[in-house]
Amino acid sequence: MTAMAELGEAELQQHFDDRVAKDQRIEPRDWMPEAYRKTLVRQIAQHAHSEIIGMQPEGNWLTRAPSLRRKAILLAKVQDEAGHGLYLYSAAESLGVDRGELTEKLIDSRQKYSSIFNYPTLTFADIGVIGWLVDGAAICNQVPLCRTSYGPYARAMVRVCKEESFHQRQGYESLMTMMGGTDEQREMVQDATDRWWWPSLMMFGPPDGDSPNTQQSMAWRIKRHTNDELRQKFVDMSVPQAEALGVTLPDPELHWNAERGHYDFGEPDWSEFKQVVSGQGPCNEQRLARRRRAHEEGQWVRDAAAAYAAKQAATEEEAR
Ligand code: 3HC
Repeated sequence: MTAMAELGEAELQQHFDDRVAKDQRIEPRDWMPEAYRKTLVRQIAQHAHSEIIGMQPEGNWLTRAPSLRRKAILLAKVQDEAGHGLYLYSAAESLGVDRGELTEKLIDSRQKYSSIFNYPTLTFADIGVIGWLVDGAAICNQVPLCRTSYGPYARAMVRVCKEESFHQRQGYESLMTMMGGTDEQREMVQDATDRWWWPSLMMFGPPDGDSPNTQQSMAWRIKRHTNDELRQKFVDMSVPQAEALGVTLPDPELHWNAERGHYDFGEPDWSEFKQVVSGQGPCNEQRLARRRRAHEEGQWVRDAAAAYAAKQAATEEEAR
């Protein structure tokens, strides 16, 4: 068999294409087209940043959770998000980038994070609705990523998705409890649903016709479904859940289309989406300022870890 090192660019490309077509995973040391690597770095970094920034809207309620049980659940969830960020930064590092550099790019606004985390959490019902809708949307988007073509990303997503399922359940369960409570609690749940529904639909990205990356990412099997396919799946999944909960989804155009076998739904406000993605959302400034401050305040930890590693290396060297 010809050693991979002896193959020319065209043969390497063919080998890569064949593996992707056979649904075999591409691993860090395999040859890959530079554009494939860059796309993965872009998507995985954006995903990692989203997990880390996503800790802020929920962290906002940690000290105000209504009971010890709710606080313990929320604390566990926020910690899970930190873990997801770390797996994803590790997956990105396997593509030859450095986590520190990615963080610098995030805090300098050279890389994106999900639009959804730029909305405020005004009441504790928002925490339940984030679990139900935001984590629900995340699951829809991320379960197919367990089959994405890049091995380290696919494997990270398996654990992430298991934890996201718990997040979705805890949110829905807390909303069920509130809906069985007072009129005021039910109003809070409806109000939070009204505010989070449309931003949740925007999480899936622009419509397919305006999505510059979908076609190529589908061909490389990085993405397994288009933005619109996943958005539809999410709507179909959420309508019966809203009915069981007893809330109304804020879309007058939402109705069952028997011919299509799906719910028809209204168009999200794409001008709002563009505004939020370009940094003009309700909380963009606050989210980035907080992330920047946390990074600066963590400098001493990074310095201490680097000094310790240097000392260890010197000790090992002396012992040789
Ligand atoms: N927020 C911010 N930017 C978005 C976005 C969103 N909701 N949706 C799309 N974009 C950006 C894209 O990054 C791309 O920007 P770029 O080309 O300048 O980098 C541009 O808008 C065009 O969009 P495309 O559809 O062409 O981009 P993609 O093919 O990358 O698709 C995606 C977008 C569907 C979000 C895809 O990147 C993806 O599936 N990513 C992985 C999942 C992810 O990042 N989820 C974020 C939420 S994490 C989360 O929910 C955690 C939780 O705990 C709740």
